[in-house]
Amino acid sequence: MGKIISIILPKGGVGKTTSAVNLAYNFALKNYKTLLVDLDPTASCSMSLGFNHENIFGDIFDVFSYSKSIESVIHTTGIDNLDCIPQMKLNAVEEGRQSKLVSNEYLLRNVISTISSKYKFVLFDCPPYLFGSTNLALIASDSVLIPIRTDEYSLEAIDDLLIRIEYISKRYNRDLSIEGIFLTSYEKNIRASYKIKTKLYENYSDLVLSKSIPKDANMMSVTFNKKPLCLINPSSRAAIAYKELADEILIRNESAVF
Ligand SMILES: Nc1ncnc2c1ncn2[C@@H]1O[C@H](COP(=O)(O)OP(=O)(O)OP(=O)(O)O)[C@@H](O)[C@H]1O
Ligand SMILES: [Mg+2]
Repeated sequence: MGKIISIILPKGGVGKTTSAVNLAYNFALKNYKTLLVDLDPTASCSMSLGFNHENIFGDIFDVFSYSKSIESVIHTTGIDNLDCIPQMKLNAVEEGRQSKLVSNEYLLRNVISTISSKYKFVLFDCPPYLFGSTNLALIASDSVLIPIRTDEYSLEAIDDLLIRIEYISKRYNRDLSIEGIFLTSYEKNIRASYKIKTKLYENYSDLVLSKSIPKDANMMSVTFNKKPLCLINPSSRAAIAYKELADEILIRNESAVF
């Protein structure tokens, strides 16, 4: 049986999508068949892998509305072992219409369960809020992986997320666990970064993963290349850190995915 992991923090721009794409790439590189599902209407995950209105032939909401089967919306990515269910970029009206489709809390869980056995990892890239598709992802997942930036608001967002996880696990998904919390865009010699890292260990010591992802200017080139940083620049600092983080997650899940 594979593992379904949601990448969530109810705060924008903390590195959820970057982490989803680069971790998925590293799992695939190690021959773990991986499916990356873009659940964010801004579609940045899809765009960062080169998907757009011209080449997307269906997304998860087509499955929710019963117009397509889940198998028919799985896209290959050109990367061995890495498939993707991309998301059409939506305008506000379309997003409103789409949100009505998510009234059945088990929708995602039900459709993913029909294909998850084909994959060692399924990763959900979630939007920066806890309702809508994030809610569906929490109900459909085995665990939650939490990226944070070194600012006070990220710590507050962790608390909101932990309350939500507790609620979901009591009400809908008893087996939901926390994969871990890790720092992104980390700047070693900045006082504020150190302060947040200390607070993180004080408040959530059991949950903190040992690997942090450093701030890396090479990340800017990703938007032009439409490929994961770990593929286009594997020797960059953030790419090396993502590889090590993927290894850390693999070791923790040895029994689940082998
Ligand atoms: N380690 C890093 N070093 C430098 N820049 C980074 C790093 N990680 C992410 N970024 C940049 O930070 C921005 C936000 O990252 P990303 O889109 O992954 O965050 P997000 O949490 O998915 O955002 P949203 O909440 O909007 O979905 C992007 O421009 C990305 O290139
Ligand atoms: Mg994102």
